Amino acid sequence: MAVTINTLREFKQKGKAFAALTSYDATFSQVVSEAGVHVILIGDSLGMVLQGHDSTLPVTMDQMVYHVSCVAKGNRGSLIMADMPFMSYGTVEAALENAAELMRAGAHMVKLEGTDWMKDTIAALSERGVPVCAHLGLTPQFVNKFGGYKVQGRDEKAAEMMIEHACELESAGADLILLECVPAPLAARISQAVRAPVIGIGAGSDTDGQVLVLHDMLGITTGRKPRFVKNFLAETHSVQEAIEAYVNAVGERTFPAEEHTFKA
Ligand code: KIV
Ligand code: NA
Repeated sequence: MAVTINTLREFKQKGKAFAALTSYDATFSQVVSEAGVHVILIGDSLGMVLQGHDSTLPVTMDQMVYHVSCVAKGNRGSLIMADMPFMSYGTVEAALENAAELMRAGAHMVKLEGTDWMKDTIAALSERGVPVCAHLGLTPQFVNKFGGYKVQGRDEKAAEMMIEHACELESAGADLILLECVPAPLAARISQAVRAPVIGIGAGSDTDGQVLVLHDMLGITTGRKPRFVKNFLAETHSVQEAIEAYVNAVGERTFPAEEHTFKA
């Protein structure tokens, strides 16, 4: 049966963890989906992983639409989430138009990076039938404002602000929250504070779901390997087995382990 946002809500209610993974093409999308991954993310990480840029900023709407349509063809029942690329949701009007394009290409929901300024945008999308995931913490589209890729929410003031933003964005209509590179105790607090399922990456094992970049979990990270990455192919014999091992480890909450987690 196809995964919907209701499936993910049920997982959260039952305390079961769900698995998400990026894919950018039809073949991997089918393999990932058949391995039992609940959510496929067409991440704008493709700007780095596929295109070789040093950030996600150069990714365009046309490129996202192309990859979403490829992934949709290979999908076998996972929930398809598409990133809205840099500045494609700079105004509410642009967000509506661009989200519609991604939905027409086969996305079931869109993901936006930001804080409380996104309230009106999320409300407008949600009211018009577009489910939204709000991405908080280390939001890579903000790399130039952050001055690098750094763990977010480390001091108590920043932590409380992030909790407040997560609650406000849920109230605005966000159906999922994604937390990237935040201390595990903060991710746990946010997961308890909101009813929406929370997906973590570098956010510890107490979120409702986990996500990784496909290439990273297959051990083909180029450049510096982030702390939260685990190579699942190293312990298995095929790409299929590696992805199944990831789904199982997330379900059993054996991944992420201490060594993949930021404590404070
Ligand atoms: O673009 C991406 O792959 C992402 C994940 C890292 C969450 O946004
Ligand atoms: Na992204």
